[in-house]
Amino acid sequence: MWREVCWTLFILVVRAKDGITAEAISREDFPSDFVFGSGSSAYQVEGAAFDDGRTPSIWDTFTHSGKVLDKSNGDISCDQYHKYKEDVKLMVDTGLEAYRFSISWSRLIPNGRGPVNPKGLQYYNSLISELVNQGIQPHVTLLHYDLPQTLEDEYQGWLSQKIVKDFTAYADVCFREFGDRVSHWTTLNEPNVYTLGAYDMGFFPPGRCSSPFGFNCTEGNSTIEPYIATHNMLLSHASVARLYKKKYLAKQNGFIGINIFAFYLVPFTNTTEDMRATRRANDFYIGWFMDPLMFGDYPEIVKKNAGSRIPSFTPSQSRQVQGSADFFGLNHYITQYIQDDPDSLNNEPRDFQGDMAVKLTFRADRIPNGELPFIPSGMQGVLEYVKQTYGNPPIYIHENGQVTSHNASLNDMSRVKYLEGYIQSLLQAVRNGSDVRGYFTWSFLDVFELLSGYKSSFGLFYVDFNSPDLKRFPKLSAYWYSNFLKGRSSSSNSKDQYLSDH
Ligand SMILES: *[C@@H]1O[C@H](CO)[C@@H](O)[C@H](O)[C@H]1NC(C)=O
Ligand SMILES: *[C@@H]1O[C@H](CO)[C@@H](O)[C@H](O)[C@H]1NC(C)=O
Ligand SMILES: *[C@@H]1O[C@H](CO)[C@@H](O)[C@H](O)[C@H]1NC(C)=O
Ligand SMILES: *[C@@H]1O[C@H](CO)[C@@H](O)[C@H](O)[C@H]1NC(C)=O
Ligand SMILES: *[C@@H]1O[C@H](CO)[C@@H](O)[C@H](O)[C@H]1NC(C)=O
Repeated sequence: MWREVCWTLFILVVRAKDGITAEAISREDFPSDFVFGSGSSAYQVEGAAFDDGRTPSIWDTFTHSGKVLDKSNGDISCDQYHKYKEDVKLMVDTGLEAYRFSISWSRLIPNGRGPVNPKGLQYYNSLISELVNQGIQPHVTLLHYDLPQTLEDEYQGWLSQKIVKDFTAYADVCFREFGDRVSHWTTLNEPNVYTLGAYDMGFFPPGRCSSPFGFNCTEGNSTIEPYIATHNMLLSHASVARLYKKKYLAKQNGFIGINIFAFYLVPFTNTTEDMRATRRANDFYIGWFMDPLMFGDYPEIVKKNAGSRIPSFTPSQSRQVQGSADFFGLNHYITQYIQDDPDSLNNEPRDFQGDMAVKLTFRADRIPNGELPFIPSGMQGVLEYVKQTYGNPPIYIHENGQVTSHNASLNDMSRVKYLEGYIQSLLQAVRNGSDVRGYFTWSFLDVFELLSGYKSSFGLFYVDFNSPDLKRFPKLSAYWYSNFLKGRSSSSNSKDQYLSDH
């Protein structure tokens, strides 16, 4: 086994030397204060789900009821909780400048509010210090979906305004304990699609929806709950940002952002209808969060089509939300084509999709064997859209990457091609004035994927989930990214390093 693995690596290294040496672009093409990294999230990478005082999050409950495609869960996953030092070393070898990860709220504060768990505190202190000592910036997400189950049980989590106080108190602990070493904080990951998965379709926890929408949920109301959850998320974000400015900014000089899932949307045809539909779809997907944060209210078309089903901001809430994001994290993977669907506005009852009144399509010819369609110009497209619509706010690309089946070859040429194409497009956007400050691949390791479990992966490193020590192996994409980050001159060193390590 080991002999085979080493031989495979040797072949990969030789190939990498022959061809893929990031000739076209390198890190040097980007500003020196631009930051390049890779990411993960707590539930997807940590494992140790029942160790040292952690209590279940809504994801533990969901996976343990068999709701993931392959019936798997994050109980063990990559066990980064115990292997963080080894992983930080891989990050150093790869040349990462930053690592994006999230904190497990129910590990740090097991009851959702109140006493801090000393073991949880110790873990994040150790991870953050290890990163900082190795020269890697920690970029921390406060909540990557894994709300403590106890808060879901007590008041239905995001459906209650009580969440604002608890989320702010949790953030207060994070800023107080870790803010001396962490300067980039993201409050929430992809709330604009998460609320749809969780409250409209019900395929994400807490798994709520109502007929005829979604997948046979036992509770929920698809027509109103996504709007209510979003409203409480925006108020929570704003409250956390206000706390930071009042209590920590002067001393810690950090930044508070929020993350948004960002399709690049293109009209399916050049008819006026499809072009207008595309603007409307952007207002629903991106404007739903960015308009309140930049301008203080939801887009007009969203308010009009959702009517009384979307909550309103009071004047003081509006003032608090507006301007409360120092940066936006964008997760960009794919381009979608938009067709007008005006008839959906006649439907009753109507959910978010109905209110948006569009049909989303892929171009089927562009989807090879389960991978994401390769349309790298979408990166520049979505960055131009945000620049021109919102006055060029600071952006981090928080996620971008290619999916392959987990057992695919370490020779992940399609991922290399994807990353190279999208980073080239990112460079075009930067050169055209987009205020992008950083880029993170998803994901550093093969992790527990929220929809597909361990069947498909995005990692630069393969994780052998069947081996007792969950051994990590670099894929070709890890070498490619490393060469890109280090510049060609140091590429042979990095390969030698890998060979000696594995
Ligand atoms: C919902 O449940 C019905 C009856 O059990 C079943 O026939 C149907 O396939 C389910 N629909 C979905 C989307 O799971
Ligand atoms: C959802 O909420 C709306 C508005 O309150 C209400 O009219 C509708 O009956 C609810 N639907 C369900 C399935 O509870
Ligand atoms: C729409 O117009 C743009 C710009 O003229 C062009 O690049 C694109 O190919 C057209 N799209 C379709 C579907 O015709
Ligand atoms: C990889 O996994 C897929 C589905 O999970 C399976 O169909 C295929 O046979 C596997 N390939 C190998 C080489 O194990
Ligand atoms: C470059 O930026 C300018 C100004 O924002 C914009 O008008 C132009 O369309 C952009 N170019 C591309 C290729 O997106």
